[in-house]
Amino acid sequence: MPDQSLNRFLDRVNSIAVIGLGYTGLPLALKLAEKFSVIGYDCNPIRIQQLQEGYDSNQELELNLVPELLPTFTSNQLQLTHASVYIIAVPTPVDDSHLPDLRFLKEAVEQIGKFLKKGDCVVVESTVYPGCTEEFCVPLLEKISGLQLGKDFSIGYSPERINPGDSVHHIGAVIKLVAASDPATLRLMTQLYQQVTMAGVYACASIKIAEAAKLTENIQRDVNIALLNELSAVYEKLGIDPGAVWAAAATKWNFLPFRPGLAGGHCISVDPYYLINAIQEQGGNASLVEESRRINEEMVSRIAAQVLSHIQTTIPGEDKKRVLIMGASFKPDVRDVRNSKPVELAKLLMSSNIEVELIDPLVDAQHLEKESGLGLISQPTGYYQVVIIAVNHTLFKELEESYFCNCTSDTSLVIDLTGMYRRVISNRKYWTI
Ligand SMILES: NC(=O)c1ccc[n+]([C@@H]2O[C@H](COP(=O)([O-])OP(=O)(O)OC[C@H]3O[C@@H](n4cnc5c(N)ncnc54)[C@H](O)[C@@H]3O)[C@@H](O)[C@H]2O)c1
Repeated sequence: MPDQSLNRFLDRVNSIAVIGLGYTGLPLALKLAEKFSVIGYDCNPIRIQQLQEGYDSNQELELNLVPELLPTFTSNQLQLTHASVYIIAVPTPVDDSHLPDLRFLKEAVEQIGKFLKKGDCVVVESTVYPGCTEEFCVPLLEKISGLQLGKDFSIGYSPERINPGDSVHHIGAVIKLVAASDPATLRLMTQLYQQVTMAGVYACASIKIAEAAKLTENIQRDVNIALLNELSAVYEKLGIDPGAVWAAAATKWNFLPFRPGLAGGHCISVDPYYLINAIQEQGGNASLVEESRRINEEMVSRIAAQVLSHIQTTIPGEDKKRVLIMGASFKPDVRDVRNSKPVELAKLLMSSNIEVELIDPLVDAQHLEKESGLGLISQPTGYYQVVIIAVNHTLFKELEESYFCNCTSDTSLVIDLTGMYRRVISNRKYWTI
C-alpha cells in the first residue's frame, strides 16, 4: 500500500471526505476540518446550501465562521476526486418489515467507487450489522472501482457514538472505536481520530468486532428499557406504584438508572433489527433482543389503551374527546422526529376519533407536517381530558402544576411517561409508568 502516514493529511496535501452531513456526519466533518482539509459531501443540495450559509437545520451546531476551519460543503460528487480518505455517515434505517435498508449506504459506496484511487481508504461510520463493511461494501467498491482491497485500497470501520441533544458526550469527549483491514490503515485511522477526540481511540481486533460493539451498546439500552416497561406493567397490575419502585431501587449502588418509556428514534429502535436479521440469516435467533423490541414496540398501544380507558369511563359518548401530547421528538432536547413514538401515539389516538394536539417547542412545525402530516400548537387550546407528557425536554421541566390544571378539568388524567411530574401533580389524576 502507498503512504499511510498522517502527515500528508496534517499538511493538507490530501483531503478527507465525509459523505452524509446529518446528525453524525456534520459534527465529525466540522471537527476534522479544524485539523485537516475536509470535503463535506451531501447528496441533498438544500442541506448543502444551508450549511454554506452557516445554518444547521438540525440546530445541533453553531457553524464556525472562520472559512479556513470549515469543510468545503458540496453536493457535487466530482469533488470526491480530491479525497484520499472517505468517511461514510449516511442513514441505515430499516424497512417496513424491519429488515436493514441499505439503500443509502449502497449509493454512498457506489459514489465513492467511481472516484476511488490506489492508496485510498474508505471508513464506514454508519451503524451496520457485523460483516456489512467487508461483505457488502467491499465487493461493491471493488466492482465499481476495478481496484482490489489490500492491494490497492483499504477499508475501516469506526462507529459513531454521538448523542444529539447531549452537550456532555460530544464528539471530542467520547472514546472512538476503530478497526481496519490492515495494520497500516488501523494506525492511520487511530492517528486521524486522535486529532478529533480528547477521550482517545480504542483499536478493535477486527471490523466485525467494532460493528458488533456499536449494536451491542444500543441493544443493551433497548433491553434494559424493555425490562422496565415490562416491570411497570407488572407492578401496575399488582397495585404497586412503579415510579416509587424505581426510586427505591435506585438507592442501590449497582442499580442501572434506566426508565421505562417510549423507545423510538433511529438508533435504539432500529439497530437491534440489524443484529436480529443477521443471526436469522444464519438460521439462529436472538430471542431476548427480539422480545425486547416487541415489548418496546407495544408501548404505544399500551398508553393508547390507558387513554381510551380513561376517556370511556369519564366522558359521555358524543362529547368531544381531546388529548394533548407534550413532546413530538423521539427523545429529549432534540428536534429530530424520525421514528417518533409520540407521533405514532397521536396517530393511533386520532384513529379512535380523538382530537389530538401536540406541543413541542423544539420541533420545526413545517418539518413535522411534512414528515407526519401532523401540526403543532404553541400553547394549550381549551380543555383536554388527557394530557400526556411524552418527552422530558428540559424546557418542560420548568412547568408548574398550574400549567396542567389550566388546560384540564377535575376529571382529566395526566399521563407522565417521563416520571418528571411525580411530585408536582397533586390536583389531577396522575398515571405514570
Ligand atoms: N443520529 C444519531 O444520534 C446517531 C448516533 C450514532 C450513530 N448513528 C448512525 O449514523 C448514521 C447516520 O445517521 P444520521 O442520524 O447522521 O443521519 P441523518 O439522516 O441525520 O443524515 C444523513 C445525511 O446523509 C445524506 N445522504 C444520504 N444518502 C447519501 C449519499 N448517498 N451521499 C451523500 N449523502 C447522503 C442525507 O442527505 C443526510 O443529510 C446511521 O447509520 C445512524 O444509525 C446516528
